[in-house]
Amino acid sequence: MATIISDTSRTFSEYLLIPRLTRKNQGTESVDLRSPLSAIEPNQLPRFSLNIPVVSACMQSVSGTSLSIALARQGGLSMVFCSQPIDSQVEMVRMVKSHKAGFVTSASNTTADTSLADVMQLMRESGHSTVPVTDDGTATGKFLGLITDQDFWEFEDDLENKVGEHMTPIDNVIYGVDGISLREANNLLHKHKKDCLPVLDAAGNLTSLVFKKDYVDHRRHPLEMLDDSKRLCVGAAVNTHDYKERVPELIAAGADVICFDSSDGFTEYQMEAITWIRTNFGPEIVIGGGNIVSAEGFDFLVGDPGIDFVKVGMGGGSICITREQKGVGRGQASALLDVVQRRDEYFSKTGRYIPLCSDGGLANDTQIVIALAMGADFVMMGRYFAMTEESPTPKTSIDGQMYKPYWGEGTHRAQNWQRYDDGMSSRKMMFEEGIDAYVPLVGSLSEVLETTLYKVRSTMVNLGANSLADFRESAVLTRVSEQSVVEAGTSSVFQFSRNREFDDSDWGNTG
Ligand code: IMP
Repeated sequence: MATIISDTSRTFSEYLLIPRLTRKNQGTESVDLRSPLSAIEPNQLPRFSLNIPVVSACMQSVSGTSLSIALARQGGLSMVFCSQPIDSQVEMVRMVKSHKAGFVTSASNTTADTSLADVMQLMRESGHSTVPVTDDGTATGKFLGLITDQDFWEFEDDLENKVGEHMTPIDNVIYGVDGISLREANNLLHKHKKDCLPVLDAAGNLTSLVFKKDYVDHRRHPLEMLDDSKRLCVGAAVNTHDYKERVPELIAAGADVICFDSSDGFTEYQMEAITWIRTNFGPEIVIGGGNIVSAEGFDFLVGDPGIDFVKVGMGGGSICITREQKGVGRGQASALLDVVQRRDEYFSKTGRYIPLCSDGGLANDTQIVIALAMGADFVMMGRYFAMTEESPTPKTSIDGQMYKPYWGEGTHRAQNWQRYDDGMSSRKMMFEEGIDAYVPLVGSLSEVLETTLYKVRSTMVNLGANSLADFRESAVLTRVSEQSVVEAGTSSVFQFSRNREFDDSDWGNTG
């Protein structure tokens, strides 16, 4: 006969945290939100950590290039979606990896005999006001000088004049030599009051540019996720079908993390794929598996050859209809608590720590806090990011309010049959597990995230916790009754023009 679990399937909104002692010297600025993303072997440090405990979902309407760049700059990580051809996913990863951060390959270049009119056009189209001049007009040609929009006057100079007549020639340009460190390059910019430093190789060819604005930007984003070469970090989703072709290309393009995108990761297909990746790319590659919702699923995934982190969640996503379509899934809080308990037991037994990601269904900032308190190391969100300026979808005005489209990977629109494939290799979706919807536009990712993370830090201070590890250790949670949910809202007061639906503390949850 079937086993019936005695506990009810519960959600985050059924829990509250009890405050603990806040110490006098504690403030939100002293709270460290760093979180491991890779498995931690006994007595070792994690190979990969997030600076904030947030990743974006492997979804077409979420994790595109702009969002990946914006999130990495804030200290989180995107998982570029895999429901697209390998080439275009690889191109997205490449674009994130080549985004600034220190030494950049010059994107706009010209030759000395180009006209001012043409170089002006180039500056307008690219938005670059400083353009290197090389013998062949490429980013790696012999460096001849620099031309900026300050070197000529549009309405005074003859625009048929050649760049060579107006540029600053190499003899008057401050430049660095290949091998120079970023710190040395920035020191040169500072000392000579320059905005741009060309870096040349021994033969005088241009290799890269270093910009003052990037330095300033970096100082403004101290939590930026950078790899050893100072490139932004990015994750890439994969499926259990074409991984033998997809994974090598993503790794070659510089993806820092490989993350399985599957509604059900408790499968032999996923284990086969993990084994293939480990066999071919070794223990260094950071791999995330899932999704699972039980201790049994956790035991399966962390066994040989082992993965780095596990995503927990099935059926809770804001656009998800899996539970009603198929009758599988589990309340997100119950799923997470079950897996956290098994993860902690596994840690006590083996000394290996496996980070957990709570994926989907987070309807507001409070639920992020509860997920972290319950033992998630980080959270994965779709709708939260779909609502930002940087998500890859166009803004749409509906009744005077700005919205963005947001659709599940299990919709006909996404055509991500690989995510839901049950092994029948039908290669078509028989029914949908997600919906096609709109979400309100809430602003830039950095603004929204700043408020969310401030709330997380503030709650951690309420519990006297300075780190996420302290937080889950000291967390005491209580279940709430329906009456106490009512009590938590305002009572017996009138509030004019408060639109609860789109308030910033409630992200317009419909699910
Ligand atoms: P959200 O943050 O509540 O919007 O949930 C995002 C999560 O929903 C993703 O990370 C996936 O795990 C899951 N998901 C994405 N597309 C679908 C779908 O079409 N059906 C069910 N779940 C989905």
